[in-house]
Amino acid sequence: MTATLATRDTDMTLSEAIRQRRSVRGYLATPVPEATLQAVFELAQWAPSNCNVQPWQVFVASGATRDQLRQRFLDNVAQGRAMTPDMGFMPALDGSHRDRQVVCAQALYGAMGIERGDKAGRMGATLRNFALFDAPHVCFIGMDRRFGLPMALDVGMYAQTLMLAMTAHGIGSCAQGSMGYYPEDVREAFGISDDIAILFGISFGYEDDSVAANRARTVRASLDESVVFRR
Ligand SMILES: Cc1cc2nc3c(=O)[nH]c(=O)nc-3n(C[C@H](O)[C@H](O)[C@H](O)COP(=O)(O)O)c2cc1C
Repeated sequence: MTATLATRDTDMTLSEAIRQRRSVRGYLATPVPEATLQAVFELAQWAPSNCNVQPWQVFVASGATRDQLRQRFLDNVAQGRAMTPDMGFMPALDGSHRDRQVVCAQALYGAMGIERGDKAGRMGATLRNFALFDAPHVCFIGMDRRFGLPMALDVGMYAQTLMLAMTAHGIGSCAQGSMGYYPEDVREAFGISDDIAILFGISFGYEDDSVAANRARTVRASLDESVVFRR
């Protein structure tokens, strides 16, 4: 079934979808209809990749699979089980990268009313990741673990294409590196071989705009900090 037949997206332009997409960290329980799921993931298949290899392997958890994984993640955290991401953790940052990280955290904690120095509040906000921000769906994005950085570029292209497709269908999303912290549980839930590394996940569904975290807004560096034009 093609995307056009399965469901209709909004009349959003690409520019609008790019600007309207933002990380949603609180969801309604309402599941995304099956036809819309198919349409969105079909659209994302059109992401570019080096030599059109399409290395992404995507595992979408809904219903009981989602419930069980969510509970497993929460139990893992409660029991202090070691996090073992296949691709390691984000490195410690400094300079302007660290500054942007701090501004981003302040926007989120500020929206949630978490005061500076409130360690328990911050921990609670972090734990929301493992509750999937109550999203009815989460997809895990993996690839053959031998591929490494060159192919991970393709997977990143896929992920943004997928999230823009979701935005265009009125679906909120949040990319989560934290969804790669317990890869063994994901492999077990889906019967995935150990050859597939889980890079990260994306929780998604319909936004609950009464959730305070969803009032957080991020900013971007000015163009001259990121792009060099030379003629
Ligand atoms: C690869 C990747 C991993 C991320 N991991 C997390 C995460 O684990 N938890 C989280 O709350 N947000 C996570 N984010 C969301 C970023 O914080 C967010 O994209 C960034 O602050 C920009 O905000 P925006 O998405 O609202 O535009 C991740 C984003 C990306 C691209």
